[in-house]
Amino acid sequence: MGFFLPINYQEPLQSTFCQFTTSSMRKNPIWQQLTELAQQDDRKNLAALWRNPNRQETLVFEFGDLYLDLSKNWLDDEVLEVLCQLAEHANLKIAIDDMFNGQVVNTTDQLSASHTQLRNPSHPSYQLNTEKLFTLADQVTSGQVKTAFGKPVKQLVNIGIGGSYLGPRLVVEALTELQSESLIPIYFAASVDDSLINQLFKSIDIEHCLFCISSKSFSTVETLMNARAIQAKLKEVKGYQPDQQQSSLMAITANTPRALKAGIPEYMILPFDTTVGGRFSLWSSIGFPIVLAAGKDEFKDLLAGAHLMDQHFQQQPFKQNLPVLMALLSIWYRNFIGLSAYSCLPYDARLRSLPKWLQQLMMESTGKMHNISGEVINYPTSPWVFGDHGQLSQHAFFQAFHQGVDALPLDFIGVMEDNSSSQNFLLFNLIAQGAALMQGKEEDQSMKGCPGNKPSTTLLLKNMTARSIGQLLAMYEHMIYTQSVIWNINCFDQPGVELGKSIARDIQQHVENDSLNEMGLDPSTMALIRKVTELKNDSID
Ligand code: F6P
Repeated sequence: MGFFLPINYQEPLQSTFCQFTTSSMRKNPIWQQLTELAQQDDRKNLAALWRNPNRQETLVFEFGDLYLDLSKNWLDDEVLEVLCQLAEHANLKIAIDDMFNGQVVNTTDQLSASHTQLRNPSHPSYQLNTEKLFTLADQVTSGQVKTAFGKPVKQLVNIGIGGSYLGPRLVVEALTELQSESLIPIYFAASVDDSLINQLFKSIDIEHCLFCISSKSFSTVETLMNARAIQAKLKEVKGYQPDQQQSSLMAITANTPRALKAGIPEYMILPFDTTVGGRFSLWSSIGFPIVLAAGKDEFKDLLAGAHLMDQHFQQQPFKQNLPVLMALLSIWYRNFIGLSAYSCLPYDARLRSLPKWLQQLMMESTGKMHNISGEVINYPTSPWVFGDHGQLSQHAFFQAFHQGVDALPLDFIGVMEDNSSSQNFLLFNLIAQGAALMQGKEEDQSMKGCPGNKPSTTLLLKNMTARSIGQLLAMYEHMIYTQSVIWNINCFDQPGVELGKSIARDIQQHVENDSLNEMGLDPSTMALIRKVTELKNDSID
């Protein structure tokens, strides 16, 4: 059967900064030392680790609006020291400078990664980005921009998926619930689903609604299908008269020619540079919904918060560097202790979309099996990332955290600002979960006992502001970049997601041409296609 493809080994490229090669990684003395340390039971025993009286002081960090407590982790000074040596050996400092200096760090596409430039007020990209964003935002909010019904804009629907959806959604939710309501309410259409589009059309005020096609490539099939479905619906509405002066559609893209070809008037296109990675793009034009929902000042504060974290990442020694510490800890768990999952648990409804954003950021960036030279690697990379609002998760999957056989790294995230009783309730729950997981409890009836010794990280935001959210998100971005440098992989490409998309396109075409047998698909897939196409035919009859 010819349906399993051989792994494509490519000619190695030379990395600019990492001294590891695949074959040397496991043989490297630092790697070996960490492997040996991970085999010592006391390194994975929180009770033993807490015998060090200085633990609290050495593993709690404060920077900007963030308070990071790593003390409940299977981590100690010696391990941290060797992990820092690993980062040094990978030339992390040079790699950080390379990214900030606009060097090619996306080696697959031969591109720099420019998201940090967008939040650096002394970089020309900052000015360009904010100017074009704010100019269009002003035109929209002042009523100068009119929908194709000749009406001012009062709502925006963001049509986009992945990085063109998750970041804006997370920040809009975090900031507008703070302000109790959005300046311009934002709706999101991400997956392809007729029922969702129908539901959306029932909720919005069509005549006052601006539909924003957010797509870096302007070729993502889900986004284009949704855009077409929405356009078709608009055409059915009386009074819909798009022209060069009034439009219900706008685009945010790094591919302006395609947006123009799709009929979006030029003044309604917000371009951004192709060097901004999709999942790192909320700081770019992709952040337009944030500007409309929360306002220009909030957006500037978001950029300022991220820039603060950028400077911290560039300047601080690894041992006090929040993103580096987070990355080193995750590498310790993943590559040396052997834990394969990672959970993100915000104890605040305003951050409910953080786990999904982090899931894409981590898994799409570092879920890789090739190093930057194209060689297949022999160590695991991205863990399986999942999570949800902490409180909801307690009533869903925390049982497995407390009494499941294995452990996994957990990030508990809380917001301190609001002294209301419900906020305190949430924070006390967050704190209690970390304590319960670490301490455990012996019970007479052993089935009720919890073994404890389960690690977790606590990350507290001093308040819920654009500035603190900027710091938090930039911290995770830099954590991912640090992981990728040490793993010697490219965190700015995602070639793996293409295969499924191209097979879906082929299936569609072959079904339409009645030539499915030519595809050489496996029996299981063939049977599934027959099943769904038969069902469709039945329902047509
Ligand atoms: O999932 C693949 C992907 O390319 C992501 O990297 C990206 O965030 C998403 O699709 C959307 O892409 P685009 O913004 O080009 O529509």
